[in-house]
Amino acid sequence: MPGIIVVGLQWGDEGKGKVVDMLSARASHIVRSQGGNNAGHTVIAEGKEIALHLLPSGILHPHVQCYIAGGCLIDPQVLIEEIKRAEEGGIALIERLKISPYAHIILPVHQMLDRLKEKEKGENAIGTTGRGIGPCAADRSSRVGLRMVELVSPDIFSEKLEVFCESKNKELEKIYGLEPLDISAIYDDYSIYGELLRPFIADVEGLLTDALFRDETVLLEGAHGTLLDTVFGSYPFVTSSSTLASGVCAGAGIGPGYVDEVFGVLKAYTTRVGSGPLPTTIDPDTLEDFRSMDDFREVGTTTGRERRIGWLDLVLARHACRLNGVTQLVLTKLDILDSLEEICVCVGYSLDGETLDKPPALIEDLERVEPIYETMPGWMTSTKQARKIRQLPENARAYIDKIEEFCNLSVGMISVGPGREETIQVDEEWM
Ligand code: GDP
Ligand code: IMO
Ligand code: MG
Repeated sequence: MPGIIVVGLQWGDEGKGKVVDMLSARASHIVRSQGGNNAGHTVIAEGKEIALHLLPSGILHPHVQCYIAGGCLIDPQVLIEEIKRAEEGGIALIERLKISPYAHIILPVHQMLDRLKEKEKGENAIGTTGRGIGPCAADRSSRVGLRMVELVSPDIFSEKLEVFCESKNKELEKIYGLEPLDISAIYDDYSIYGELLRPFIADVEGLLTDALFRDETVLLEGAHGTLLDTVFGSYPFVTSSSTLASGVCAGAGIGPGYVDEVFGVLKAYTTRVGSGPLPTTIDPDTLEDFRSMDDFREVGTTTGRERRIGWLDLVLARHACRLNGVTQLVLTKLDILDSLEEICVCVGYSLDGETLDKPPALIEDLERVEPIYETMPGWMTSTKQARKIRQLPENARAYIDKIEEFCNLSVGMISVGPGREETIQVDEEWM
C-alpha cells in the first residue's frame, strides 16, 4: 500500500512543508492528521510563497486531494481565513479539501486559557504559540470537547455549547475572577463558521482507506517534531499531540499496516522555538555566521518568534529515527552550513561522569547534559547549485555519511535551498 508518512525529527520547523510540497508531485492525497494551527510551514514554488497552518502543504499541486483528518484540532476561524487566502491566490479548494467530522474545534476560551495558564507558570512557561492547543486537547481527553460534526449540526451545537461554556464559566469566574463567556455571541460566530465549513465535511478516514485500496499514494504530513511529542518529547516543554509517525497514522484513522514508508526530515543543524533545553546551543559568535546566510529564515511562521539555534544533535536524531520507525532520511538546509570553517556534531552526552547515548527522560537532566562533539571540516563553498550528490563538495558528503552511519539509515533527499529546484534527489525512485 502506498502510504507515506513525513515526520520532523527535531523540535519542528525542519522544512517539512517544502519536503511535502516536493513529494506531492507524485502523490494523489495529502493529509494533516494531528496538531492544529500551532504548526506553520512556508512553501515556495514557482515564485509564490505561501504560509500554511492547517491546510496540507501539498495544496499548491492542483492534482492532489487535501484532507484535514480526525486527529486535528481546528480553529474554524483560522481555517476559513486560510481557505480564503488560498482561494485569493488562485487555489480553489471546494472540490479538493475534505475535513473530518471527528476533528475537535478550538473555541475562544481555549486561547484564553492557553494564555492564562502560561502566565500562571511564570518563568516555567512553555512558550506555547497561544493558539489554544493545550486546553483544546485537554478537553478532548476529558471528553467535554466539541467537534466538527457538532459544529455543523446547529441544534445539537447550541445545546452542547451551552453546557460546555457553563462549565468553563465556573473555571473562569472561580479560578481567574473573570467575567463569564457571552455564550450567544460565541454561538452566533460559530454558527457562521459551521455554515461555511459544512460543504467540506466528508468521510475522510473512509476516503483515505479506499484510496489506499486503489493503490493511490497517500502522503501523511506530520506537524511539529518528534521532540515536541506529548509523551516522548522534552516533557513538559512539548505540544499536546502525538507527533510521531504512529500518532500521525492514528490521527488519520489509517491502520499502520497501510503505511510503507516513514520519511524523517532532519535539518542540518537544530532549531527550537519556545522554552525548554537545547543541549547543542551555539555560541553567539558562530551564530553570526549562520545568520549571515541567504535564506536563513529562522523566524517562526506562526508567531514570528526567533528560533534558537544549535549544532546537529545526532543523539536526538537517532532517538527520533527509532521512535518513528524512519525508513529514509531527508536532510534540509544543508546550504546554511556553507560558510563554516568547522562544523560540530553531537555524538553523545556526558552527565555526572557517565556517557549517554540517548536523551534522559528527566528534563532537569536534559538541561544539564554536556554534549560530546566531533568536529568536522566545513566545505566553504555554496551547495545551492548542486542537483546531484556528486556535485556536493567532499566535506559535505562526509557530513552526510556521518549522519547516515550514526542513524543507520540512508538519506534519500537533500534540500539546499527553500525553492523546489534547490533539491538533490538521491533516491531517484522518489520523483
Ligand atoms: P516546517 O514547519 O517543518 O514546514 O518548516 P518551516 O516552514 O516552519 O521552516 C523552514 C524554513 O526553511 C522555511 O522558511 C522554508 O522555506 C525554509 N527552507 C526549507 N528547506 C530549506 C533549505 O534546504 N534551505 C534553506 N535555506 N531554507 C529552507
Ligand atoms: P511546525 O509544524 C516549532 C512548540 C511551541 C512551544 C510548544 C508548545 O511548524 O514544525 P503549543 O502552542 O503547541 O502548545 O506550544 O511547542 N511548537 C512548535 N515549534 N514548530 C512547530 O510546528 C511547533 N508547534 C508547536 O513553540 O514551544
Ligand atoms: Mg514550522
